[in-house]
Amino acid sequence: MWSNIQRPGQVISTILLATQAVHAIDLNLNNPDSIKSAAKAVATEMMSYYTGYRPGDNPGNLPDPYFWWEAGAMFGALIDYWAYTGDSTWNNMTTQALLWQASPDANFMPKNQTMTEGNDDQAFWGMAAMSAAERNFPNPPADQPQWLALAQAVFNSQAVRWDPTTCGGGLRWQIFTWNKGYGYKNTISNGGFFNIASRLAKYTGNKTYADWADKTWQWTADVGFLTPEYRFWDGADDTTDCKNYNLIEWTYNSGVYLLGAANMYNFTNGSDIWRDRTLQILNATNVFFSTEPENVMYERACEPVGTCQVDQKSFKAYFARWMAATTQMAPFTYDTIMPRLQASAIAAAKTCTGGPNGTSCGVKWTDQKWDGSRGLGEQMSALEVLQSNLIQEVAPPVTDANGGTSIGNPAAGSGSNDGLELGY
Ligand SMILES: *[C@@H]1O[C@H](CO)[C@@H](O)[C@H](O)[C@H]1NC(C)=O
Ligand SMILES: *[C@@H]1O[C@H](CO)[C@@H](O)[C@H](O)[C@H]1NC(C)=O
Ligand SMILES: *[C@@H]1O[C@H](CO)[C@@H](O)[C@H](O)[C@H]1NC(C)=O
Ligand SMILES: *[C@@H]1O[C@H](CO)[C@@H](O)[C@H](O)[C@H]1NC(C)=O
Ligand SMILES: *[C@@H]1O[C@H](CO)[C@@H](O)[C@H](O)[C@H]1NC(C)=O
Ligand SMILES: *[C@@H]1O[C@H](CO)[C@@H](O)[C@H](O)[C@H]1NC(C)=O
Ligand SMILES: *[C@@H]1O[C@H](CO)[C@@H](O)[C@H](O)[C@H]1NC(C)=O
Repeated sequence: MWSNIQRPGQVISTILLATQAVHAIDLNLNNPDSIKSAAKAVATEMMSYYTGYRPGDNPGNLPDPYFWWEAGAMFGALIDYWAYTGDSTWNNMTTQALLWQASPDANFMPKNQTMTEGNDDQAFWGMAAMSAAERNFPNPPADQPQWLALAQAVFNSQAVRWDPTTCGGGLRWQIFTWNKGYGYKNTISNGGFFNIASRLAKYTGNKTYADWADKTWQWTADVGFLTPEYRFWDGADDTTDCKNYNLIEWTYNSGVYLLGAANMYNFTNGSDIWRDRTLQILNATNVFFSTEPENVMYERACEPVGTCQVDQKSFKAYFARWMAATTQMAPFTYDTIMPRLQASAIAAAKTCTGGPNGTSCGVKWTDQKWDGSRGLGEQMSALEVLQSNLIQEVAPPVTDANGGTSIGNPAAGSGSNDGLELGY
């Protein structure tokens, strides 16, 4: 399906100028097949980092230096990849990984992660399960946990962690008292919860989820992590009542709230208040796009100074993912979002000329050439921004009432392992 929106007419061909002629990524945004093959090349290299499907390895784990949460994020990207392209190459690995890491209580709280797992980490796996439900990703065997129930399990296990004893509420960053960061309340943890709650409201029609989304939005604003200008600080320690803000701004914080707001807009049948919030967040994300070259996404907190760490190199992936999904839940955002995803995809593709196969993508898309950086986050970010340009090709997310096939369980995850019964 093509909209009547104008697309860039140019054909971008990135050719690696090396001693040998190496084929690099060609990208023509006017041609869905071109976008699909570019996405496949970038995804193939992304998957060269993953070994969890091999006999004797742990499904769903990535080798160092990649943390557990980034694997959940990667399988979320692969669910989108399948929905956007129809290519099921990595579907089985994705299902295997999600089900393995959901264990033992079907809520993405595997015992191996109790020394590190934060609410944000759990949320990235939960958001992958939510995407699987929304996109009708092939359902697991009937005797296994189902996608919708997994997302509900993450929601339920986080709702009981809402903590009004400090800062007036909110989720802590860490789940377990013994982990560094237990005293920190942060935007991405609350944003992940807000995102899942709003999408569950839309998917199931159950107003309880929407009430939690409202409450989480309100708290984020009241505590000041969401500024009156609709920008997002990273978080704050609860020892100082969450008033001593860590002022760093990340693309994914704006993105995670943007899609949540868009879902609330849609759930409320187009309410003015959620329309305004969606618009305001989107407008405030101007700061994450360059003026020269125009409209190219960049991680302004670290790219200009070259300090992006492993996790941070993947953040643009989620921002692109959630911007694209926002255009389906809040169609009035389409004309603002698409030129940014188009310009960013063109610039990103130009960076994917590195490495042994000429498909390694760089960190800085604004360079419009490979910047010498290689890694899983670089590949995932390029993959997501490329495939996001197929958003008009795919149907909007399904719901219980409208084509959804995933089986839910509103009680999933409640009363199960939240660490409290481990004896600490
Ligand atoms: C490069 O391509 C070879 C052959 O297809 C593949 O085995 C290898 O994993 C690729 N390497 C990277 C970094 O993508
Ligand atoms: C994926 O898993 C299904 C069900 O176990 C199996 O029938 C199918 O052959 C697998 N596909 C691939 C490509 O491995
Ligand atoms: C936890 O670690 C053990 C030992 O390495 C491994 O056998 C198991 O598969 C891991 N569990 C998960 C969910 O990764
Ligand atoms: C949205 O509209 C539908 C259909 O008219 C209605 O059933 C639903 O209750 C409305 N939702 C809200 C939150 O007002
Ligand atoms: C809600 O999303 C659907 C699916 O994209 C769309 O058709 C509908 O117009 C949206 N509702 C509003 C109020 O924009
Ligand atoms: C959009 O954001 C800019 C800052 O980037 C701000 O100056 C402007 O007032 C905002 N516009 C609206 C309509 O909120
Ligand atoms: C709605 O969601 C809440 C929270 O998970 C749950 O307790 C309740 O049973 C759900 N209601 C229905 C009708 O599914």
